[in-house]
Amino acid sequence: MVDPTTFRDVMAQWPSGVTVVTTLVDGDWHGMTASSFSSVSLDPPLVSVCLDRRLYSHGLISAAGVFGVNVLAKDQAEVARVFAGMVPGVEDRFAGESWTTAETGTPLLDSALGWLDCRVVHEYPGGDHTIFVGEVLAGHAARRTAPLLFHSRGWGQFADVLPDVATLADGGVVAALRGRGHSEEGVLSVAEGLAASGVRVRVLDLARDDRAPVVASLPDRSSALVATREQAEWALGLGVEVVEVPVDPSVPGAVDQVLTVIDGLADRASVIVRNAFAIEHGDAVLNAVVALSAARVLEIGMSDSLGAATPLQVRAVLQDAVGLARPVPLRARLGDRDRLGLVKALTALKSGVHHFNTTLAGLDGAVATEDLVRLLGELDVDTPADAAQVGLAADALRLSLVPTNPVGAAG
Ligand SMILES: Cc1cc2nc3c(=O)[nH]c(=O)nc-3n(C[C@H](O)[C@H](O)[C@H](O)COP(=O)(O)O)c2cc1C
Repeated sequence: MVDPTTFRDVMAQWPSGVTVVTTLVDGDWHGMTASSFSSVSLDPPLVSVCLDRRLYSHGLISAAGVFGVNVLAKDQAEVARVFAGMVPGVEDRFAGESWTTAETGTPLLDSALGWLDCRVVHEYPGGDHTIFVGEVLAGHAARRTAPLLFHSRGWGQFADVLPDVATLADGGVVAALRGRGHSEEGVLSVAEGLAASGVRVRVLDLARDDRAPVVASLPDRSSALVATREQAEWALGLGVEVVEVPVDPSVPGAVDQVLTVIDGLADRASVIVRNAFAIEHGDAVLNAVVALSAARVLEIGMSDSLGAATPLQVRAVLQDAVGLARPVPLRARLGDRDRLGLVKALTALKSGVHHFNTTLAGLDGAVATEDLVRLLGELDVDTPADAAQVGLAADALRLSLVPTNPVGAAG
């Protein structure tokens, strides 16, 4: 037979999620940390937990005939430590967290990733443990963030992985050039060059400037920023691929209004949540993401409108928003104030954002399209954008913007 140390060492290499299994006897709550939780059957819905026969919890669950399973999130290692009896001096394991009770009366952790309320239907002997099989009476997936993991006797979470592919859309260069009085011909040639190099280009900015220029020909990949239903229909009729609609989540009713604007057009609409990283709007932003995801818009834009978000703010918002938006992808527009744009873009990539809005040469304060394409190349993240072509377009643009020698300047 394998020696106990080797057995434990090998089992320590097996990573698992972490749950708190709860029960109640005579109205008294009890709970313990357990990683032996497993799904058993879908029909009927059954799960199992293996509990050490010597544990206090074991006797309670056997007597009560009910248990709750609370799946812990990555920020709940302390809860797991408390319920594993690892924190000295704790008299009430339930103190400090918010709990509700389900049908069977078992305590359920409000902040858990999800919970199941179970009735014991089988108890199988398993050496010094008992395998409790529970029929699942009710369940709720409460949060959509990453789970807490246990591996090699330590707590962990999933590493942030970079995506295989990321896409770029230029949301600023056309408006910036028009604003600077560039000829329509010159503006369109920049737009066409960018689109040909694999970047979607916003060719119309109707939300800010209703005087729509006459667009003779549209590049292959194009979008229009619109504010009204009429503008959306007009732009789509013109042949743009996507309409982008801004929404200020801090304004009551604004999200509902946008949903009316894009009613029936959701699969071609990118809704841009303004000031998405402002801490004071945190809940409003996440609520907007949930509503837009339910409406199955094409994508949800997360805009660092003032350019002032810090990488930590970007991280904090995106790590919840990415999960809440699923299956709708997020598109981040990050400002380059304090030259932190690429740091924020990397943070967004690692938080699960695969689509970006940028601006060639960073003309409007957003991360420069050519800089992000280069970063993606360095990180081995594929993109439909051709780095060489985008770089050339940016160089040409910068040259065209160099002011001619002011009158009277020396040399
Ligand atoms: C990550 C982790 C997972 C655990 N999983 C189990 C398990 O699946 N079964 C078990 O019997 N004990 C497990 N334990 C140990 C119990 O949580 C621990 O013994 C607890 O104090 C039992 O509570 P009680 O003494 O109040 O019954 C685990 C501990 C940790 C830290």
